[in-house]
Amino acid sequence: MSDPTGSGPVIALRGVTRLYPGGVTALSGVDLTVDAGEMVAVTGPSGCGKSTLLHLLAGIDSPTSGTVVVAGNDLAHLRDPSRYRREEVGLVFQFHNLLPQLSAAANVELPMFGTGRSSAERSARASELLAEVDLGGCEHRLPTELSGGERQRVAIARALANEPKILLADEPTGSLDSVSTKRFLDLLGRLNGEGTTVVMVTHDAGVAAQAHREVRMRDGAVVDDTTAQVVAPSPAE
Ligand SMILES: Nc1ncnc2c1ncn2[C@@H]1O[C@H](COP(=O)(O)OP(=O)(O)OP(=O)(O)O)[C@@H](O)[C@H]1O
Ligand SMILES: [Mg+2]
Repeated sequence: MSDPTGSGPVIALRGVTRLYPGGVTALSGVDLTVDAGEMVAVTGPSGCGKSTLLHLLAGIDSPTSGTVVVAGNDLAHLRDPSRYRREEVGLVFQFHNLLPQLSAAANVELPMFGTGRSSAERSARASELLAEVDLGGCEHRLPTELSGGERQRVAIARALANEPKILLADEPTGSLDSVSTKRFLDLLGRLNGEGTTVVMVTHDAGVAAQAHREVRMRDGAVVDDTTAQVVAPSPAE
């Protein structure tokens, strides 16, 4: 059994295959273990299965075969799937998936419903998170009144709403400029320093370099898994 608070595996995929109708093999026999507190970059060419992998971890898609265990939960046998999606993991979607009829703040508040927070607490937390992604003062704007990068930052704030132990981010910097990317990486570093496990999909080598580990995929399989070597400081002379 995984221990989400210890340093053991917090994510374990065993023999995970995801087939789509029409003969598409999005994932093929993936085995992957991520320890609590790791920051992992998932890379690979378009269509290799990266988003599918994150969607399985987020509990919004299911494998055709194999098992996915996250923070001690076997996702095939969740007692309360919506609680899992709302509280155990935060997912930044590749294409934001903000609700167009809701303001930025209401989008960020959405995952907080059903968590026991009062309306005032939800609203204060949404403002705090929007400020964290440099969108203070944009609470009332609709997604259509925000730029692509601003929408992406609202999606990041929403994923953090319930302080997830595991943050899943799918191309989180895809529409961000270099300043926002740096700010996002700083935020990610801080969360990771506080113990949040991070799995992010990225095409950006600079972003991938921030992770301690790079899992490279091709054709639905993991083809390389490299953990950065920590360079020991040279002894004092
Ligand atoms: N709902 C679906 N129905 C059928 N095929 C799908 C579906 N979703 C994804 N696929 C296929 O599964 C494969 C993996 O898709 P996925 O979205 O995981 O790729 P990706 O690595 O995230 O690509 P990108 O870098 O372009 O975002 C692709 O061949 C894709 O066309
Ligand atoms: Mg994708």
